[in-house]
Amino acid sequence: MDAGTDCAMGAEATITESDFLGMDAVVKQRPPKTYRLPELDHHIRSSRTRNEARIMHEARAAGVRTPCIYDIDLKECSITMERMDGRMVKDVLDSEPERAEEVCRRVGETIARLHSARICHGDLTTSNMILMDDGEVCLIDLSMGCTRAETEDIGVDVRLMERAFTSAHVELEDAFSVLMDAYYSNVPDAKSVKRKVEEIRNRGRYT
Ligand SMILES: Nc1ncnc2c1ncn2[C@@H]1O[C@H](COP(=O)(O)OP(=O)(O)O)[C@@H](O)[C@H]1O
Ligand SMILES: [Mg+2]
Repeated sequence: MDAGTDCAMGAEATITESDFLGMDAVVKQRPPKTYRLPELDHHIRSSRTRNEARIMHEARAAGVRTPCIYDIDLKECSITMERMDGRMVKDVLDSEPERAEEVCRRVGETIARLHSARICHGDLTTSNMILMDDGEVCLIDLSMGCTRAETEDIGVDVRLMERAFTSAHVELEDAFSVLMDAYYSNVPDAKSVKRKVEEIRNRGRYT
C-alpha cells in the first residue's frame, strides 16, 4: 500500500488517501492521545475502531451505502476502506441550494433505512454523508453508532441530526422538512419515533 497524503484531519482521526491492491482507498487512523494512560488509550482507540467497522458492515448488510472495508488493523487502530468518489452533502447543500430538496429526500430515505434495521449512526451531520454521482447517499464516520437500537436511541439520533442540520444550514428549513417527511414515510413505527423526538426536544428545553 502506498503512503498517501493527508486529505482531512478530524478531531480524533486522521484520514489519509491511499490505495489498496490498486483500488482507491482511505486509511482512517486514530492516533494515540498522550494525555491518557497508554493501556487505556489503546483500549479506547481499538474499541472505537472495531465498533466503527462493525457498524459500517451491519449498515451495509441492511442496504445502506457505506464504504467497503478493505482492512482493519487493531494494533494501529486503523481502517482501510473504499474511497468514496462523491461530495460531502454539506458542500453540496452550501454550494447548490437548488438541489437541497432532492438531496434531502435521499438523506431522509437513507436514515430511515438505517433506523429500520435498528442501527443508529451516532453523529448524523451533513459532513458525515457523501453524495455519490448516482444520487445515492453514503454514510461515513459511524464509530459512535450502535446496533439493536431502541426507540430512545433512534430518537436521539434524529434529534441530534435536527440540531446539527438546522445550525449548519439555517436557510434550508424547507429542505429539512422534506428530509423529515421522507424519513417518517419510510421508517416503521413513525408515530412512536415522532413522539420520542418531541419528548427529547422538550427534555432539552426544560433541563
Ligand atoms: N471513505 C471515504 N471516502 C472519501 N472521503 C472520506 C472517507 N472517509 C472519510 N472521508 C473524508 O474525511 C472526512 C473525515 O472523516 P470522518 O470519518 O468523518 O472522521 P472524523 O471522525 O474525523 O469526522 C470526511 O468528512 C470526508 O470528507
Ligand atoms: Mg466526521
